[in-house]
Formats: sequence, C-alpha cells, structure tokens
Amino acid sequence: MTDASPTPPSAPSLPATPLWHTLPHAPAPGTCLGHVDEVPDGQVLLRQVFAAADSAQQHPFKLLLLRSGPTVTAFANRCAHFGVPLAVAQEHLKFQPHTSLSCNVHYARYRWSDGVCEWGDCEGESLIAIPLRVDALGTICIAAPALAA
Ligand code: FES
Repeated sequence: MTDASPTPPSAPSLPATPLWHTLPHAPAPGTCLGHVDEVPDGQVLLRQVFAAADSAQQHPFKLLLLRSGPTVTAFANRCAHFGVPLAVAQEHLKFQPHTSLSCNVHYARYRWSDGVCEWGDCEGESLIAIPLRVDALGTICIAAPALAA
C-alpha cells in the first residue's frame, strides 16, 4: 500500500543575502570608520568609504553605523527589496532608536539588532551586515569576513 497523502507545500525560499565583501567597491577589512564617540547612542550614521583601489575616490561604498549602548553595528546602505539605498543622505534616514530603521522607497522596516526585515515587501530578508571590531581606544574598523564553516 502506498501513501497517497499529498506532500505539504514548502515555504517559498528567500533569496540569499549577499556578503558585504562581494559588493561592488567594498573596502578591505581593516578599513576604519571612525570612533565610537562619533556615533551617538540610539543614532544611525550614514558613512561612505572608498576601496584602496579607488584612489580617485569615485565609487563610495555607503554603509550605516548604528549604536545601541556600547554596541556598534554596521549594514550596507542597501535595501533588500530593490538593492537601492535606504536613504541617500543623513537627513533622510528614518529610524526608531534602538528598535528599527526603514527604507525611504517603500518603507520596509528592518530590526535594529540584526537587520532582518520585519515589515514590508522584503519581509524575512536582511540588510547586509558588515562585521566590525572596536579597539580599546574606541576606533571602529571593518573586521575580516567570517570564514565559512
Ligand atoms: S526599495 Fe526599499 S522597500 Fe522597496
């Protein structure tokens, strides 16, 4: 006797989130982004850096620095929905301190803590996290990409 019960439909898979260092014009690990005191608690700063190969500084790599207490995190300024910036200028950034940040185009809302979209057209997808290390003096630099397990 065979089991004729239908196979339950599987959940649609989400597109894989690119790794930050594979993005065009990504800076090298070790690139410094500023000092932790430059990022006020509960704020998001839009920063741009240049890859070493871009000596003419023609192709900025734009990222977002978020601070919550002693924790500073970074995401590429790239919406998971269409790959456009969440905001093109500091004054256009939309965020709820320590809670969420939103895209200016269709208003996808991302969790502050991990960049996962919790509301909008790309729900369940993520902003692209950029690993950081903060040294004892408070200098924020891009850490090396995590090695695959
Ligand atoms: S491009 Fe960001 S929500 Fe659509």
